[in-house]
Amino acid sequence: MKIHVKKGTLSDISIEAIALFLFEDDKEVAGQAKIIDERIGGLITEIKHCGDFEGKALQTALLYTKGLLPTARIILVGLGKRKEFDMEKLRNASAKAAQQIRDLNLKRFAVSVHIEETSFPLDSLTESLVEGIFLGLYQFTRFKTLERDKIKEVDEAFIVEEREERLKIIKAAAKSAEIISGAVSFVRDLVSTPANEMTPAILADRACALDGKKNVKVKIMDKTQIEEMGMNSFLGVARGSDEAPKFITLEYGGGSQKQPHIALVGKGLTFDSGGISIKPSEKMDEMKTDMAGGAAVLGVIRAAADLNLPLNIVGLIPATENLPGGRAYKPGDILKSMSGQTIEVLNTDAEGRLILADALTYAARYKPSAIIDLATLTGACIIALGDYVIGMMGTDDTLKKRIQEAGEATGEKVWELPLWEEYHELIKSDIADFKNSGGRAAGTITAAVFLSKFAGEYPWVHLDIAGPALYKKDKPYIPKGASGVGVRLLLHALRNWPING
Ligand code: BES
Ligand code: MN
Ligand code: ZN
Repeated sequence: MKIHVKKGTLSDISIEAIALFLFEDDKEVAGQAKIIDERIGGLITEIKHCGDFEGKALQTALLYTKGLLPTARIILVGLGKRKEFDMEKLRNASAKAAQQIRDLNLKRFAVSVHIEETSFPLDSLTESLVEGIFLGLYQFTRFKTLERDKIKEVDEAFIVEEREERLKIIKAAAKSAEIISGAVSFVRDLVSTPANEMTPAILADRACALDGKKNVKVKIMDKTQIEEMGMNSFLGVARGSDEAPKFITLEYGGGSQKQPHIALVGKGLTFDSGGISIKPSEKMDEMKTDMAGGAAVLGVIRAAADLNLPLNIVGLIPATENLPGGRAYKPGDILKSMSGQTIEVLNTDAEGRLILADALTYAARYKPSAIIDLATLTGACIIALGDYVIGMMGTDDTLKKRIQEAGEATGEKVWELPLWEEYHELIKSDIADFKNSGGRAAGTITAAVFLSKFAGEYPWVHLDIAGPALYKKDKPYIPKGASGVGVRLLLHALRNWPING
């Protein structure tokens, strides 16, 4: 799909459909909708007055213009109440509009960013509108071979604006939103791809494909190099699979030489069967998404480069499968991590923290100003916070605050859990330094406490994305399936990062 920003108005554009956003509490049709309403003989006023369309959030109605306007159709989309309006409402509304256009099997439509009397700046409004369109129209169709001609796709969306000074702002914001949405879709594709088509080697290839981008360098360590590094905690997990593990490093150098790196670490389990502590077969297929953290790191680096962010970022992704092969690691095994600390494996299904431990240790090589890790780490996080919330834990208040704010701005909801001293007791081992499972109680927290032992003294935040990585139901701009969570969140934080911080 292509997005165009064009000089003009919705009442003058000749196209298959226009989308018009309306608030619920406006008694009379106002603003640009009023001009259109007058041109079509008060049809919008009528549909409002007879109660068929109130403008409630996500409500839609379809009107035909009978030649009274150059557009053939008007799709009305409700924005809900004015005082409840925010960017999330707009993303949902524009996604809904785009999906209506697609359902009608139309190829082109137009919208405008005229949301009257809101305090939100024009660039935020534009970005949210464009993200809603792109992300709402996302479909994963790669493996569908039958009746491909029945797959409906919108080709072009036009954003129209008359005023030159607004046009400039809208163009720039639409471009950023296109880059960010492109990165989210890229991540959704990676995460949706099944494990037979998304092995550690294939994930590494996808990372290498980013190497051509401006200021991006990608390096892959193979098994021998990982051994040389002493990443025995990571290697322990990889033992049960015939697929070779890969350690992916992406360096983005958009900042100056002396600026420190921000380290992003992503869990790259291309399939998690649980290993010898094998998972129940029901829903085990969902564990193809256990590399969602790693994929999100790829997406962030890709967009950071395309947005030309003035920062230095390093992405670290340990990638492996967790399978119960003949040489698999076993409950009771003790692994010596790259940090030198020893880990007693009580449960081979608590593998994410084992591969992340070595990646966090490796991150210290960069002396980073911050470390943020993303991982589908614990089922317990879904029990604690539900399917749609990221669990946040960390050691640095400034960093946590930045992520918190990014969560509010992007709609990628984040909730903090504590890392109190009492929890540290739960992962002490009788015969090694730590054990990899603290049992059922506070499972999300004890996983994070385990990671904290490897993050060193660097400002660090851990994001448990076990719930929101995979949507179980449609949300307007996040269709059921892989969501690409973390990409918009981290990009928001990075775009607002203090240059020397
Ligand atoms: N990848 C899973 C966590 C997960 C579960 C993500 C469900 C998404 C949906 C992780 O590797 C895991 O298996 N964690 C265990 C830890 C336990 C053995 C301490 C869990 O959550 O049960
Ligand atoms: Mn597991
Ligand atoms: Zn896992």
